[in-house]
Amino acid sequence: MALFGRKKTTVGLDVGSGLIKICVIDHGKGLPELTKVAITKLQPDAIVEGEVMDPGIVSDAIRAALDNAKVSTKHIVTAVGGRDVIIKKIQTERVKEKQARELMRWEAEQHVPDVESVELDFQILDPGKTTDEMNVLLVAAKRDLVDAKMRILADAGVVPSIVDVDAFALHNAFEVNYPEAMKGVVALVNVGNEVTNINIMDNGVPILTRDLPLGTRRFTEDLQRQHAIAVRDAENLIRGYDRSPQLDSILTNRVEEIAVGVERAAAFLTTSKNSATLRAVYICGGGSRTPGLAEILAGRLRISVEHANPLARLNIRDGALDSLTTDEVAPLLMLPIGLALRQ
Ligand SMILES: Nc1ncnc2c1ncn2[C@@H]1O[C@H](COP(=O)(O)OP(=O)(O)OP(=O)(O)O)[C@@H](O)[C@H]1O
Ligand SMILES: [Mg+2]
Repeated sequence: MALFGRKKTTVGLDVGSGLIKICVIDHGKGLPELTKVAITKLQPDAIVEGEVMDPGIVSDAIRAALDNAKVSTKHIVTAVGGRDVIIKKIQTERVKEKQARELMRWEAEQHVPDVESVELDFQILDPGKTTDEMNVLLVAAKRDLVDAKMRILADAGVVPSIVDVDAFALHNAFEVNYPEAMKGVVALVNVGNEVTNINIMDNGVPILTRDLPLGTRRFTEDLQRQHAIAVRDAENLIRGYDRSPQLDSILTNRVEEIAVGVERAAAFLTTSKNSATLRAVYICGGGSRTPGLAEILAGRLRISVEHANPLARLNIRDGALDSLTTDEVAPLLMLPIGLALRQ
């Protein structure tokens, strides 16, 4: 037991459809320090299209992942996202934080279908300002979907101390590591196994989030169907370092979908008052490593596309990554790092 410098560690738990990711951050001394990373593969059909097909398999996998990582199940932060939540940016009359909750309830009734079935939260985006109107991010989490996730966690022995929202946790980790990206309009694109999350930020404020049903699972299927490449070989191509004609050919179509998603999300801004244009795209997630993806996306959007590394500005304790190769796993960790950064 330490009398001084009490240890304060937070465990970020990201249950992805492809991989369960665990990151542990020690907040005890000054700068946050990453002390542990563990990644466990989930059976491919356990979570499909965001829906948990087999809760037992998922909770067993979470428990095994936590056991393998040898982390305490205290102070676990996890998140809900995708179809569990509705995020809407609204403008409303400026009121004090205290009155805001009641006002948001009313606003939610105007913006969220079936408001009785959701858990509401909100964030005032411009609290320092004195304008008559304020910008608020309204978050409505569907109660039954969130409850189902909590039951799966409880079965794995986990009672999370915080349940965050995917998009906010991604933003949180990105902001810490890329303060220079908090200027102008930029997009953070997280390409996962099943889902690609697009986050548009205006001067660092997350103003729009969109999910596309697209990720490395699709890339694998495309390689299988269009080029008769076996699943294992396809996965190796996706996780590899070299571009190939087959990968290039399937990526051209899939990157087009991502580009259109980013353009549509950013167009929302250009139609609003300030006609700022998208300055840069940052990519993360396992799918962002796919050889050629960044280059094809940059060529298509004609703006800078940069790989965002969630470990860029973190202290990393020796041995935190065990035998994992930092460059190979860092892109996968934006979300769990964002979770573990919460205290
Ligand atoms: N080093 C790596 N180890 C394992 N998978 C990798 C690696 N690099 C890239 N990948 C690919 O990334 C995918 C997982 O990416 P990620 O962890 O971002 O997705 P996820 O969070 O599980 O999925 P989703 O968010 O869509 O539910 C794997 O399915 C694999 O195709
Ligand atoms: Mg993910």
